[in-house]
Amino acid sequence: MAIQFNFVSSMLILVLLSISSVEGQGGGGGGVIDVVAKFGAKADEKTDLSKPLLDAWKEACASTSPSKIVIPKGIYFLSTATLDGPCKAPIELQVQGTVKAPADPGAFKEPKWIAFNRIENFKLSGGGVFDGQGTTAYKREGCKGHDYCGSLPINLKFDFLTNAMIQDITTKDSKQFQANVLGCKNITFEHFTVSAPDESPNTDGIHIGRSDGVNVLNSEIKTGDDCVSIGDGSKNLVINGVTCGPGHGISIGSLGLFKNEEPVDGVTVKNCTMTNTSNGVRIKT
Ligand SMILES: *[C@@H]1O[C@H](CO)[C@@H](O)[C@H](O)[C@H]1NC(C)=O
Ligand SMILES: *[C@@H]1O[C@H](CO)[C@@H](O)[C@H](O)[C@H]1NC(C)=O
Ligand SMILES: *[C@@H]1O[C@H](CO)[C@@H](O)[C@H](O)[C@H]1NC(C)=O
Repeated sequence: MAIQFNFVSSMLILVLLSISSVEGQGGGGGGVIDVVAKFGAKADEKTDLSKPLLDAWKEACASTSPSKIVIPKGIYFLSTATLDGPCKAPIELQVQGTVKAPADPGAFKEPKWIAFNRIENFKLSGGGVFDGQGTTAYKREGCKGHDYCGSLPINLKFDFLTNAMIQDITTKDSKQFQANVLGCKNITFEHFTVSAPDESPNTDGIHIGRSDGVNVLNSEIKTGDDCVSIGDGSKNLVINGVTCGPGHGISIGSLGLFKNEEPVDGVTVKNCTMTNTSNGVRIKT
């Protein structure tokens, strides 16, 4: 028995050794990537986080083992960032701090602040805050007109993600939609907090379009427009445990305005609380 035991344990050691050598090679890295410690980000509210974040993303995205990018506690300034996939292994972006956008709406070339694009197995977590600093934009003349607001930046864009989790994240005072979900498959928002004033125009909490399998769970949405809005081509959506208000409620639509719109199919709304909203749940067509 003793001989057999030794044989088994040396096999185990061999297996462990080969696992660690696999992790040490290839696209390399993986593990934890701290944007401050490794890429010189500064929590001073004026140094742009854009390059450190993009550098960290590049490293994580090339890694063949799972990695976690950490934005530690502190207040950061971020001009804009688009984090593109496809990546080689799952990535988690853990935001512990507060990340602030430029307050000036004129600082944006495109109508987005932070975008996550074509990523599989992505997690955004950490209890952090994305502050769109929209107060100036809300006051600008003409913002009530739909077209003008349409060109303002969206705080968080989730485009073509598969198997994504957005957990313990706050988005506040976006200049336009707070979060936009487009072309995603299996994405869950949990303990997602949206905060914007009652009078902020076109600041939908989560807008969902052309996606399959979107869950919005145990979340709190206070905003100036729809808490959750659902555009054409969306199916298998579950909205459970959402507290909404102020806001315009949960809306499907508007639908039917354009040619070739796809149907909306399979929307479950349950266990939600509406406080001081202009509507509860409605279909706009
Ligand atoms: C959906 O995505 C989550 C990650 O958020 C993952 O754990 C789960 O396995 C995925 N479900 C399917 C059916 O792929
Ligand atoms: C109902 O929603 C609350 C959050 O508002 C959540 O804590 C609870 O688990 C939900 N209940 C069910 C049965 O899903
Ligand atoms: C309800 O909303 C109105 C504005 O839409 C606001 O003036 C009022 O204070 C709100 N009431 C509560 C109880 O939040």
